[in-house]
Amino acid sequence: MTTSVAKTRTVPGPKPIPVLGWRANFLQFMQSPLGYLGKLNQQYGTIAGLVENHQSMIFVFSPEYNRIVLSDQELFHNMSLNNGFFPIPETAAIRDLNTNLFTMNGEVHKKHRRLAMPAFHKNIIERHRDEIVAIAESTIEGWQPGSIIDIYQQMSQMTLRIAIQSFLGVDTTKYLHNIDDMLAHSLNDLFKKSVLMFPVNLPGTPYRRMLDNTERLGALIRELIAQKRANPHDHHDVLAMLIEARDEDGSALTDTELLGQAHILISAGHESSTSTLTWVLLLLSQHPDILADVLDEMDSLLHGAAPTTEQLGQMKLLDNVIKESLRVLSPSSVGSRVSADEFEIGPYHFNKGTLVTVCPHIIHHSAEIYDDPYTFRPSRWETINPSPYEYLPFSAGPRLCIGQSFAMMEFKITLSIILQRYRLTVVPGAVIDPVVKPILSPKTGVPMIVAHQDRRFRKTDIRGTIHSMVTLTEA
Ligand code: HEM
Repeated sequence: MTTSVAKTRTVPGPKPIPVLGWRANFLQFMQSPLGYLGKLNQQYGTIAGLVENHQSMIFVFSPEYNRIVLSDQELFHNMSLNNGFFPIPETAAIRDLNTNLFTMNGEVHKKHRRLAMPAFHKNIIERHRDEIVAIAESTIEGWQPGSIIDIYQQMSQMTLRIAIQSFLGVDTTKYLHNIDDMLAHSLNDLFKKSVLMFPVNLPGTPYRRMLDNTERLGALIRELIAQKRANPHDHHDVLAMLIEARDEDGSALTDTELLGQAHILISAGHESSTSTLTWVLLLLSQHPDILADVLDEMDSLLHGAAPTTEQLGQMKLLDNVIKESLRVLSPSSVGSRVSADEFEIGPYHFNKGTLVTVCPHIIHHSAEIYDDPYTFRPSRWETINPSPYEYLPFSAGPRLCIGQSFAMMEFKITLSIILQRYRLTVVPGAVIDPVVKPILSPKTGVPMIVAHQDRRFRKTDIRGTIHSMVTLTEA
């Protein structure tokens, strides 16, 4: 713990809303997190409270403050829904599902991370290449030229199937339990307003439905664990590797620990990958020149086929397109920690238990770091090399996303398959509102018109708040 008499507790911020107080400010923040934070950053600079002098909830907006918060795992902890935020029954499966890498801290987190890391080693994840190709191809199989599809929904189904196959080893085309529906429900339910605002465990309530769903999901994952334990040599998925993993002292993960880790692998990767792919496809359709260059790169390297693992490293332009999309429309646009002790940032002193939020979205749009920050310009990555705390779509520090390499491989393979086969055009006049839920996703999807890839690209006029995040010039 560091303390100093020179430090002050009077952090800047807006005045509490008259009569209603700071809770009304909190509601404003919840309604439009990025709008609220953008204003705080403009008015107060690199650090601000939810309201002035607020000691419970602060926001930081500088690479240096990001470093302080994200690099010190002992002082700044991840939070868990199990910690009294929700009235969860003692024996509910959701407790075990929520006890995982995301919510663990200290030595327990370090141990679990150590055990999980080998499953995400480059050579190991490359084993999943063929499965990803097969799922991407079967996803686009049903697309009819001339029809309109919601690309967000399509990407959601595809990434969920990829995660279930690669992380749990379940082939969703053959498995009879509708595991993808069950997972989709359990993941969506958890962050539904009706569940969060009304967590009452009575028959017929959304909260009870969420608990019932997660019971079924828990039972299903336990069944998969039992099958893999019974036939250890038949599997090469991540869960199977976690079952086999041994720490330095020979200890292994218990079934309950495996349940939590299996759940986080699916949920951590699903929404963020869905959003990334949706934003890349939307941005490319709105930037025909860049899309033409991407297709040239694919043509010269792949000739219509899916990339091999060796070819993935040669797709430099596609790499830059994904990086640039992750900068302007970062799925993890905010991230929070809670302090385990008193601490200081800049000239301020804060209490133990303060909620500190970092905001990659604002850092990624900082004119001090990025030239012309609202422009989608993949070529900038040929010359820039921002620090880990200036560019952090996968976070930074000891809790850097463990699935980053898997995700990049998944993006490159699926985008190559989709773009070489189809030309996708956003429906003219579509309203695209990116919202934090908690991943930055399109509020009502992204409708796109499907055509064979004939390179007759057509940029369309779209509407919505997306224009406040990236410059999309007139069609
Ligand atoms: C596709 C497979 C993915 C998997 C399996 C995965 C898995 C994980 C896991 C297990 C963690 C927790 C690490 C820890 O706390 O030690 C994590 C953290 C994180 N992941 Fe991923 N992830 C995936 C994709 C993505 C994508 C596409 C994004 C965003 C573009 C992303 C952004 C993040 C961020 C920002 C964190 C840190 C969260 C925090 O600071 O608390 N992940 N990921």
